[in-house]
Amino acid sequence: MVILQYQTGHRARCVEIFDSNVGEYFAPWERSEFIEFLDSLDVGPEYYVCISDGQVVACGGVRIKSPIAELAWGMVHKDCHGKGIGTILTDYRLLYLEKSTGIECVKIDTSQHTEGFYKKRGFIVTKSIHNGFGEGIDCVSMKLVTGI
Ligand SMILES: CC(C)(COP(=O)(O)OP(=O)(O)OC[C@H]1O[C@@H](n2cnc3c(N)ncnc32)[C@H](O)[C@@H]1OP(=O)(O)O)[C@@H](O)C(=O)NCCC(=O)NCCS
Repeated sequence: MVILQYQTGHRARCVEIFDSNVGEYFAPWERSEFIEFLDSLDVGPEYYVCISDGQVVACGGVRIKSPIAELAWGMVHKDCHGKGIGTILTDYRLLYLEKSTGIECVKIDTSQHTEGFYKKRGFIVTKSIHNGFGEGIDCVSMKLVTGI
């Protein structure tokens, strides 16, 4: 597994990874927001892809607005969930933030389906909006209070 900086050549596969997670994890309306995010990357946040056997299997980034940082659009292709890839990508981003100066906390907006994953990394829930992203997908705001 290698982690590389996102390039435009990865765009189509990242959208495919998003699509594989629509339904349970992402609402369909978020697709255009994700594409807009990808297309703004040369001037905006850092974004990374995980490559396994020559194929992009996950992507995720960080946005820094010192002293706050955010984990942005982290996702593993649905076919590859549960293989430790999300852990590798999340730890990579948290380590990057740990090395960045002046970061006091890391935030993420995720859903009730993945809050358990982030809780394992020390994040706590600060707010939860029922169906905040769409039917069956709550908007769960979380913050990392230790480790950074
Ligand atoms: C959340 C996500 C990144 C996890 O990636 P993954 O590669 O499937 O997770 P891993 O295989 O690395 O799992 C690591 C650990 O977290 C646990 N875990 C994984 N998903 C979990 C979840 N949804 N809730 C609770 N625990 C979870 C695993 O059981 C495992 O535990 P263990 O170390 O005790 O065995 C993945 O489910 C995903 O891409 N979801 C869709 C996109 C999404 O919702 N992203 C949210 C932020 S925008």
